[in-house]
Amino acid sequence: MSTKWWQNEIVYQIYPRSFQDTNHDGIGDIQGMIDHLDYIQELGVTMIWVSPIYKSPMVDMGYDIADYQDIDPQFGSLDEFKVFLSEAKKRHIKVIMDLVVNHTSDQHEWFKQALADPKSKYRDYFIFKTTDDGDVPNNWRSIFGGSTWEPVADEPNTFYFHTFAPQQPDLNWENPALRQEIYQMINWWLELGVAGFRVDAITHLKKDLDWASLPADGSDGLVSVIKKGQNRPGIDVFLNELKQETFDKYDAITVGEAYGVPEKDLKKYIGPNGYFSMIFDFSYMNIDVLNTDEWYRGRSQWTVKDLREALFESQQVAGQVHGTLANVLENHDQPRVLSKLVPDKHDQTPTAAKALATMYYFLPGVPFIYQGQEIGMKNFVRKDISEFNDVSSINNYQMALKDGYSKESALASINDKSRDNARVPMQWNDSKFAGFSDTEPWLGMGNDREGIDVQTELADENSVLNYYKKLGQLHHDLAWQSVTTTGDFQPIDSLPENVIGYQRILDGQVLTVFVNLSHELAEFDAHNVGDRLEKVGDITIDNDHVKMAGYSAVVMGLNAN
Ligand code: GLC
Ligand code: CA
Repeated sequence: MSTKWWQNEIVYQIYPRSFQDTNHDGIGDIQGMIDHLDYIQELGVTMIWVSPIYKSPMVDMGYDIADYQDIDPQFGSLDEFKVFLSEAKKRHIKVIMDLVVNHTSDQHEWFKQALADPKSKYRDYFIFKTTDDGDVPNNWRSIFGGSTWEPVADEPNTFYFHTFAPQQPDLNWENPALRQEIYQMINWWLELGVAGFRVDAITHLKKDLDWASLPADGSDGLVSVIKKGQNRPGIDVFLNELKQETFDKYDAITVGEAYGVPEKDLKKYIGPNGYFSMIFDFSYMNIDVLNTDEWYRGRSQWTVKDLREALFESQQVAGQVHGTLANVLENHDQPRVLSKLVPDKHDQTPTAAKALATMYYFLPGVPFIYQGQEIGMKNFVRKDISEFNDVSSINNYQMALKDGYSKESALASINDKSRDNARVPMQWNDSKFAGFSDTEPWLGMGNDREGIDVQTELADENSVLNYYKKLGQLHHDLAWQSVTTTGDFQPIDSLPENVIGYQRILDGQVLTVFVNLSHELAEFDAHNVGDRLEKVGDITIDNDHVKMAGYSAVVMGLNAN
């Protein structure tokens, strides 16, 4: 298997709005990103993914784009972004942008023209349908809840289509002219010097053109759009063309947000000639809930065994197709991993945060760190729905009430799963606004943050932050880099049920990872695992007998000969 230039990257995701405010408006900005480049570099990071900073009315916090080729003034200017690019480059850090091409904002010029004049060419950039009876064209439910069809004002019986919020009209990928405009835009950013893209919601590009209703799968009489508008036959044509017309020409790195790709299609996505350099492994992202779109339906009773199986299964399948996975514990759409994967509040300690980091850092593929994960940030509990900003949280809350759930239980679900858990301002120090801003931030600060901030953790040798730095060093350590990058993946079976263990193997070198994801002591035998490279919590290894305290982890390295 050939090694691609991006295979030993470590990626850091910035959610700009919540990273660092420098002009006293309570909103993070590009200058704030520039100011912390040294901090990011010290984590061993070689690439940054920037969540959307394009011009946007911010209904979905920038994932509703009004101008693909301009920066929203809330964040700064294109010139400032260029400075960010060159400052990152000085530190050998590449930058990838977020590419949102399934939909735009309803404030995008194309959509405005499409509404203003049904005869304009822009009408066919989007998906409009007219019905005879004034009913919506079908019973599909959007990802954020409610019909995928929004009535067009002043045009009776006419609707436009949206997979996400009504303010995010889907682009019509069936239209070649639209596709060409998108490719030009992408190439413009690549010319500007971005290394590539994280590609948003990409499996939604193709919809079933029969637009047929299906039997309802919810009490609202609707059916999830996923069944008719995700990974549908024919998507290959769009994804191949997209790659050829843009990414291939620049040797760009692309990371697909590709929910729902069936195993049999994985090769097409990330095989040697796949549409993308890699896709996120989301196999266990929603392990904590019964239903991915309707979180209010409650929590799942997942076990460490489920987690292990999901993890290993995706790695094995990716290995079979010689594909690379982007490994993630967190992102801006998910609650904090410490709160998600460590069920008991008392166990949500820095040690547990480090154990989780160890679990995913040495899997085949590229580790992604979401801002704040590296200091062990946690969820916090909000007391009222008014404290939330996220459109999907608020919609889920309302769907729950409609479905007969009590306010308390609806709120509890939203607190557990809300995307706003990850979107609170970054904690730089222990002051009122955590050094994020000197004024009230756009979204309330977390209220469970004692000891969890950059300044405090820099001063503590044993902090989560310093542990992430060590992981970064080990990942790039030339003595181990080949095995970390290209070593075969070998799950270790026959371990206690709450222990996740795996090996990476290459030319006689073996890297072994054990993680105890419970608060109970775990004991087992392990042979030929070599010397300890890194450890978290209390662990003894005596004559091949391993004893691991609750929430502990160890990385061992063996050199043959
Ligand atoms: C992706 C983004 C999410 C956004 C959605 C619609 O899932 O990660 O934040 O709401 O796409 O663009
Ligand atoms: Ca600002």
